[in-house]
Amino acid sequence: MAQIFHRSTNTISRLSIFGALFIVAGILWAMAEIQRSPYTTYAGVVRPQPVMFSHQHHVGGLGIDCRYCHTSVETSSFAGIPPTKTCINCHAQIWTNAALLEPVRESFRSGRSLVWNRVNDLPDFVYFDHSIHINKGVGCDTCHGPVDRMPLMFNYASLQMEWCLDCHHICAPGKKFSTCATSRPQKMPRSRSMASSSRTRNRWGWHW
Ligand code: HEC
Ligand code: HEC
Ligand code: HEC
Ligand code: HEC
Repeated sequence: MAQIFHRSTNTISRLSIFGALFIVAGILWAMAEIQRSPYTTYAGVVRPQPVMFSHQHHVGGLGIDCRYCHTSVETSSFAGIPPTKTCINCHAQIWTNAALLEPVRESFRSGRSLVWNRVNDLPDFVYFDHSIHINKGVGCDTCHGPVDRMPLMFNYASLQMEWCLDCHHICAPGKKFSTCATSRPQKMPRSRSMASSSRTRNRWGWHW
């Protein structure tokens, strides 16, 4: 019987099977990259807010302590977002006519809270507690980056499980945090201060 297919088709079919493997691998790789990219994690992406509140001005410039506004960060899982009253403490006297602050005054007059858009937002099934991390000496900027230089807030880390685990692997319970902090200098920037004006050293030798 005559050959239906020419011999060369053998090569072609082998090549196309091989090629398909590469294409599948390529697609999987691309999906993994997209899953980790800012496109999905929003890392580094500024979120719109009802008021152009600047951490750079208030923390970097004025030196207000993080805990003045994020009052529960050392004692509970939730860091806390300041109520309008905290802003009015100063803004009843400073910048009282600024248009930028009208939403703040309006919120104070009406008693309706400002609705800030969440920046760092873990899925609900993840259990995260600020107080344990703060009490173990992990500085705010290890996780949140150079907040005192952020005119508008963005999330610094991916907040993906890989990120939690990366640190937990080297900082396993019982290990001294100082050991893991110095073993990974690039991944864990030295903490600066909670209040840039009053720098202190905690027992890990970090500033915050
Ligand atoms: C004068 C008050 C004030 C001070 C001081 C302050 N913050 Fe904030 N912070 C806010 C307000 C208001 C928001 C919500 C608006 C926004 O996201 O920018 C916020 C948001 C944040 C967020 C994002 C919250 C989210 O939705 O995920 C982080 C992280 C944060 N602050 C960290 C810090 C750190 C770290 C410091 C100290 C270095 C600090 N803040 C000092 C008022 C303050
Ligand atoms: C301890 C006093 C203090 C507190 C508390 C405070 N501010 Fe301010 N704020 C200032 C001062 C001082 C300026 C002027 C900063 C400058 O021009 O350097 C300012 C400026 C601003 C501006 C103008 C834009 C800018 O960043 O220069 C906005 C908007 C603002 N504050 C919003 C807020 C909000 C919202 C809160 C509450 C979450 C708040 N502030 C809490 C002192 C305060
Ligand atoms: C170990 C990493 C880590 C450290 C250290 C850390 N944070 Fe956070 N922070 C997070 C994560 C993760 C979230 C998102 C929590 C969520 O979605 O439930 C968050 C959320 C926040 C929020 C939004 C409100 C909330 O509690 O969900 C604020 C404000 C905040 N952090 C401020 C601070 C301040 C101020 C410090 C230092 C005193 C600090 N954080 C230290 C990881 C950290
Ligand atoms: C920069 C390092 C770092 C990052 C990032 C980090 N952690 Fe931690 N975590 C620690 C340290 C240090 C401890 C305290 C461990 C000890 O000494 O017991 C801790 C403890 C914990 C504990 C308590 C464990 C216990 O012993 O009860 C939980 C839960 C936790 N982390 C969840 C998270 C989650 C969820 C994330 C990510 C969203 C995260 N952590 C990110 C450093 C980190």
